[in-house]
Amino acid sequence: AIAPLEARFQEKIDRDIKIEPKDWMPPAYRQTLIRQISQHAHSEIVGMLPEGNWITRAPSLKRKAILMAKVQDEAGHGLYLYSAAETLGISRDEMITQLHTGKAKYSSIFNYPTLSWADMGAIGWLVDGAAIMNQVPLCRTSYGPYSRAMIRVCKEESFHQRQGFEILLVLSKGTDAQKAMCQDAINRWWWPSLMMFGPPDDESPNTKQSMQWKIKRFTNDELRQRFVDIIAEQIKLLGMTLPDPDLRWNEERQHYDFGAINWDEFWQVLKGNGPCNQQRLDARRKTWDDGAWVREAAKAYGEKKVANMNV
Ligand code: 3HC
Repeated sequence: AIAPLEARFQEKIDRDIKIEPKDWMPPAYRQTLIRQISQHAHSEIVGMLPEGNWITRAPSLKRKAILMAKVQDEAGHGLYLYSAAETLGISRDEMITQLHTGKAKYSSIFNYPTLSWADMGAIGWLVDGAAIMNQVPLCRTSYGPYSRAMIRVCKEESFHQRQGFEILLVLSKGTDAQKAMCQDAINRWWWPSLMMFGPPDDESPNTKQSMQWKIKRFTNDELRQRFVDIIAEQIKLLGMTLPDPDLRWNEERQHYDFGAINWDEFWQVLKGNGPCNQQRLDARRKTWDDGAWVREAAKAYGEKKVANMNV
């Protein structure tokens, strides 16, 4: 008898055969990918707002140009990912509605305010650094369109992280005020960056299944640990510290031990009670309304072109 559809599907996954849009897939595989990819796309788009705040305030034309390029990259990442999600049968309008009505999640990290220029460095170095740690394994995710989108995204992410680190390096060699600004930004962005990897594995409802379907290649805690190990070394180049008194190298584990993460804060931010949740959604809804005329004009132009073709 033909192996049940699920068994054949799992065999393809086990043999690292990419799943493509037209292939049979368990409804739950489709659904969890729509969930993850659409929320990833929302994260890219909402993620433009914190940095966008500093484009007009950048300290030099060079910094302004770099920041503008980075924010534009994030918009493109969002569009790749919305397109990848659409291949699973959800419409762009439906995804946008889910974001605007608060139904869809986006990365908690973007609900924190950007209070100084040094935040642009901390975001590039820590937030994009964490995103890279999470996105490189996603280049090998089992769903073809998501994997290919990630390969393109990752090509741009390393520039994002390096320009962030360079901002902090310059500040760390500057005046006392600049050094203090650098340390303050690291202190505010460190713990929220660790939360980007998701809840602990034993509190993660999706990880087990996502690992079995090779949507995820590593668990939340595995990627978080790798990130801590790397940053704990890089921070030494800045002559700064991480705001974690429990951070210390564990020779036996060959990893850094680190302090407890405030998961209450994490779940509060996910519930919409972070410092900037309302502000971020208001900005997205306003942008959508302000851009309505562009969508209407493009639609009218398209209809006119079709009408002219049919004359
Ligand atoms: N922010 C918001 N929600 C989060 C979260 C976070 N940091 N971490 C977890 N969650 C949510 C999950 O979405 C899930 O809720 P849902 O079922 O309603 O979607 C719930 O918390 C439980 O978490 P799980 O660990 O069970 O969920 P996942 O298996 O989906 O793991 C994840 C969470 C690691 C974020 C995974 O979804 C993932 O890898 N997503 C793709 C990467 C991504 O979204 N990165 C965002 C980074 S920002 C970015 O990329 C922009 C960069 O260019 C700066």
